Amino acid sequence: MIISIANVLGEDELAALEAQLANGHFIDGKDTAGWHARLVKHNAQLAGDDPALPQLRAIVQRALLRNTLFQMAAIPKAIGPILFSRYDVGMAYGRHVDNAFMGSDPRIRSDLSLTLFLRSPTHYGGGELVIETTQGEEAFKLEAGAMVLYPSSTLHRVEPVESGVRLVAVAWVQSLVKDPLERELLFDLETARQGIFAKDGKTAEFDLLSKSYANLLRRWGEL
Ligand code: NI
Repeated sequence: MIISIANVLGEDELAALEAQLANGHFIDGKDTAGWHARLVKHNAQLAGDDPALPQLRAIVQRALLRNTLFQMAAIPKAIGPILFSRYDVGMAYGRHVDNAFMGSDPRIRSDLSLTLFLRSPTHYGGGELVIETTQGEEAFKLEAGAMVLYPSSTLHRVEPVESGVRLVAVAWVQSLVKDPLERELLFDLETARQGIFAKDGKTAEFDLLSKSYANLLRRWGEL
């Protein structure tokens, strides 16, 4: 399941991120890629020792934790390293799969990858995130503050930037529910459960759906 979520970041947060990143110390993105992804990764990344990095990560982390749709879709156990990437004209990230394990503190299994767009699509040409699915390719270039959440198991790429600057935050999520199909079933069930509650309140049917949701989570989830 690939899901786009709008308005993950508010205007103030976007402005704060953009201002800090404008003065940030960027390094070659190859430093944080696996050996094969390194062959195709051409971008710049905010340096790990940039003094603004902890604060910028906290803004994104807070935004993810408060987002109900993200919580429902990812059922996160841990959010891995949050990186800030900049693509100037000519930069791209060729076709690759993300590493199975990411980060060191904590080290997580990457079940889901996310790209959070920090600049309006009108500010740069190209730079689409293209994800390969069994139905074909899907391209994403979302509004500032929106994000796409997709399985880390996919092959994906970032098309070359033709004008302007593409600025994104990327991160990886380890889910409490490892299996993507089980996660999707839970997402659908939870969506239906909330819809029924909004329409009719806490009915007997709602209680049964709640019971099923909790018991499936108990069965499929791993702490
Ligand atoms: Ni990737």
